[in-house]
Amino acid sequence: MDVAGDQESASNPWCAVHLPQGVLLRDIENDDAPGLYLIHGNPLAYAHDPSETHPHLEHTRAFLAPFRAHWDTFGFGYWTALAPEPWWPSGAEGARTHDDGRRIVGLGGIQTFDLQGTRVLNAYFRLAPEVQGRGLGTLVLRAALACAAAVEPHLDVVVRTRPANIAARRTARRVGFADEGTVPGDTSMQLLRYRVAGG
Ligand SMILES: CC(C)(COP(=O)(O)OP(=O)(O)OC[C@H]1O[C@@H](n2cnc3c(N)ncnc32)[C@H](O)[C@@H]1OP(=O)(O)O)[C@@H](O)C(=O)NCCC(=O)NCCS
Repeated sequence: MDVAGDQESASNPWCAVHLPQGVLLRDIENDDAPGLYLIHGNPLAYAHDPSETHPHLEHTRAFLAPFRAHWDTFGFGYWTALAPEPWWPSGAEGARTHDDGRRIVGLGGIQTFDLQGTRVLNAYFRLAPEVQGRGLGTLVLRAALACAAAVEPHLDVVVRTRPANIAARRTARRVGFADEGTVPGDTSMQLLRYRVAGG
């Protein structure tokens, strides 16, 4: 993982993280909305939450706005994930020069979150069905943990997902999250937690 390889983001290395196989994670921008709508508007990307599927592009724009604002406030947040064109030729091309023709394949990363009165980092990841099952979710979650350790080393990181979401739970466990059962008071959500040392 290379967090400082991009000259345009030298002032904040977490704005551009280069992963194996040419995968790039970079800060969200407004022009990513159509590419991310291709994913968030696909019911297959919301198999466990069909009602959350985005109904139209404007919904995606509104969905992304607070994520962009989080970047502006904290200097980290959910990344737009881009992969070389062969991963998903019909995916949307990233709009930035440094995207180098990569396709937008997902969204993932960490944001600050209040978990029942405790400040934590929430890890999110949602990939195009066309690129799932190839190890990308694992790479993104590992990068999110590396970012967390650098930017908020004293905060635990959590994944909250549906109990039936075996892929998300396995991905989290694989990178070191402990499965803590359902969220206290909410049996519809599973809580996985990556505890920082001493936590
Ligand atoms: C969850 C998600 C990000 C995982 O990413 P991915 O790139 O497909 O996962 P990986 O290829 O890195 O595989 C990671 C683990 O998940 C398992 N997995 C992946 N897809 C699976 C599936 N459909 N069913 C069961 N397990 C699956 C893999 O076997 C692997 O587990 P293992 O190491 O124990 O063998 C991806 O499936 C996704 O975007 N799903 C839809 C959105 C979503 O549910 N997000 C989570 C919301 S909290």
